[in-house]
Amino acid sequence: MSTTLEQLVVEYVRQNPRSQSLFQRAQASMPGGNTRTGVYVDPFPLYTQSGSGVYVNDVDGNQRLDFVNNATALILGHAHPAVVGALQDRAAQGSAFFGPTELEIDLAELLQARLPSLQHLRFCSSGTEAVMNVLRVARAFTGKPKIAKFEGAYHGIDDPAMISYLPVLGPELGPEDRPHSVASSQGLAPGTADSVVVLPFNDPAACAAIIRAHANDLAAVIIDPLSTAAGLTLPQAGFLESLREITSAHGILLIFDEVVSFRISPGGTQGVYEIVPDLTCLAKVMAGGTPGGAFGGRAEIMAIYDPTSGHPGISQSGTYNGNPLVAVAGLATLRAMTPAAYSRLNKAAQQLGPELEETFQAAGIAASVVVAGSIFRIFFLRRPPHNYRQAALDSGARHRWLNFWLLNHGIATRQGGCLSLPMTPEHTTRLVEEIRSAVREWPFPD
Ligand SMILES: Cc1ncc(COP(=O)(O)O)c(C=O)c1O
Repeated sequence: MSTTLEQLVVEYVRQNPRSQSLFQRAQASMPGGNTRTGVYVDPFPLYTQSGSGVYVNDVDGNQRLDFVNNATALILGHAHPAVVGALQDRAAQGSAFFGPTELEIDLAELLQARLPSLQHLRFCSSGTEAVMNVLRVARAFTGKPKIAKFEGAYHGIDDPAMISYLPVLGPELGPEDRPHSVASSQGLAPGTADSVVVLPFNDPAACAAIIRAHANDLAAVIIDPLSTAAGLTLPQAGFLESLREITSAHGILLIFDEVVSFRISPGGTQGVYEIVPDLTCLAKVMAGGTPGGAFGGRAEIMAIYDPTSGHPGISQSGTYNGNPLVAVAGLATLRAMTPAAYSRLNKAAQQLGPELEETFQAAGIAASVVVAGSIFRIFFLRRPPHNYRQAALDSGARHRWLNFWLLNHGIATRQGGCLSLPMTPEHTTRLVEEIRSAVREWPFPD
């Protein structure tokens, strides 16, 4: 018996009356009731009441096994006792000061120990800010005006990051190996599209040709090495190395945006692939579920921020830079994430991926599941994609159907998701079993 999307939405509405009424109320104070674009769901998003370990609880009293973990940020799951204890203890001593605290040094040292490319680093309050800062320092250090980013990639919402962010497929994107620069937001500063060069992921020859052609103007190439927002597209053998080589050869900085990919190992993706970027952006896991970010890299580049010998080349103030609540949450999280913890978590995801793939395939549904560290992404594609344009062919309708089916059955996912440390085989098995039940009601002609 197949179940239609409409039937699933009817059940979703039935289960979540208080979320529906909160969404109506929100529309009077926020445009479309929304303050985080990606969270919007038609007909309304679920309003969260609380989270505990592997579960999130909504305002209607529904509990869901959470594979979203605030868009990968919560590697310890919700309200981990070590993080809660650290935050409570710290909040009782004051939550924000004008002066620095020792905690920011503790966190900086811990990050340096895990990511040796961070010879010097600074704190900020989000991944967006980290990206904004690295792009500015890259332009200052090289004296060159342009930035290269990959087609489809997400790097937060600063102007250059809003070029070719999940652009709709069509002729205006240009040839696959020479992508055009396309504005993905209204209101960008004039000239933004011209100042951003767009690269195709996993095409080293095309990247080399484009980078060479713009070498005199290019300050930096920024890459999310796992292309997490443009699907979850893993770099093919030698691709990251080829970028390291060509950027070094032309005096262009290589920036790893590890806001998400820092999740995959103690040393992030740069540790796994053994690439040393010039600059790195961090947020999410590094801030332990609080609004924090960091960026850093080669000391000679970061020296532009040094105020000790006069006014720095770049002044980066921020009321919450190095905030003690962020620092204690980040420290508690990273200390809990020992190499053994990463290994257990990643092994669980490595097992889950093939199990999900087999579940779809046994039902005759074309699907592939990509896993990186503890992150997994379901694609309704026969083969895992290698770049944004392939990933963008994924079936939005199938994901929407599966998302509602799982929400109605107590599981939160996001075209896949990620594991949290408290998850056990019982939880991953539950996801597989629920998907096995879901595909029995599959309404698509796969
Ligand atoms: C790769 C990447 N970079 C940057 C950001 C922006 O981080 P934030 O949401 O903390 O501003 C995100 C957010 O999801 C991200 O996925």
